Amino acid sequence: VASAGCTGTAEKPGDVSGAELKSSYIVGIDGAYPPYSYVDKDGSAQGFDVDSMKWIAAKKGINVTFTAVDWDAIIPTLQAGKIDMVYAGMTITPERQEAVNFSDPYWTINQDVVARNDSNVTLDDVLAGKAILGTQRGCTAAIWIEENLIDTGKMPKANLKLYADTPAAVSDLGIGRIDAVMYDDVSLNDIVKGKPMKTIGFVETKEQFGVAIRKDDTALLAFMNEGLAELQADPYWEELKEKHNLN
Ligand code: ARG
Repeated sequence: VASAGCTGTAEKPGDVSGAELKSSYIVGIDGAYPPYSYVDKDGSAQGFDVDSMKWIAAKKGINVTFTAVDWDAIIPTLQAGKIDMVYAGMTITPERQEAVNFSDPYWTINQDVVARNDSNVTLDDVLAGKAILGTQRGCTAAIWIEENLIDTGKMPKANLKLYADTPAAVSDLGIGRIDAVMYDDVSLNDIVKGKPMKTIGFVETKEQFGVAIRKDDTALLAFMNEGLAELQADPYWEELKEKHNLN
């Protein structure tokens, strides 16, 4: 949906091992994960992660294009080679690390819980498994709820509603189909902005975001770690945080 950067090193034909850097890469994003990655009404990729990637690509001389993929399918899509990395607020987890490599962490978040302003559901209700909860399919909030509320027998499985993206969960919250939404704090706050909704609490998961890369693509992993370090040492990093209200 968008591209940036200029051509650098030549692509080596037939190199599928990932030991050599290519001249262009496809970056997988989530189309509805503001302010880190989203697709705007003109179909163009936007956000903190997208701008970060564009800066790294331009600085270091590669081409990148961005493709929105369903979150639930994004790791298999990476493994199948349809995208070359996931740069979209992906939490580094031990389970995901079995499937893919991660860059060095570049951000930390926790989970927020949001309800309608007119509701009296509390965080205690949520943690006792008494609320109908919504979140994005395949995200770390869904995994947290499964492990901590469902697998422990506190909450019936039917009380968890999973959506392709979080705006869809927030929309069901708005019409009373669910009692609360749990999701990455910064993104959830962005999605509910201006809606009659309130944060009722948070769960301190201290999740770290990294860029996910195929295990055999060692050249890209080294490239991204260098690029992230250069970006974080550049004044543009602070500018980007301000631009996307991440301060
Ligand atoms: N950080 C959470 C996870 O890794 C949610 C990320 C959702 N990101 C996204 N682009 N939808 O599962």
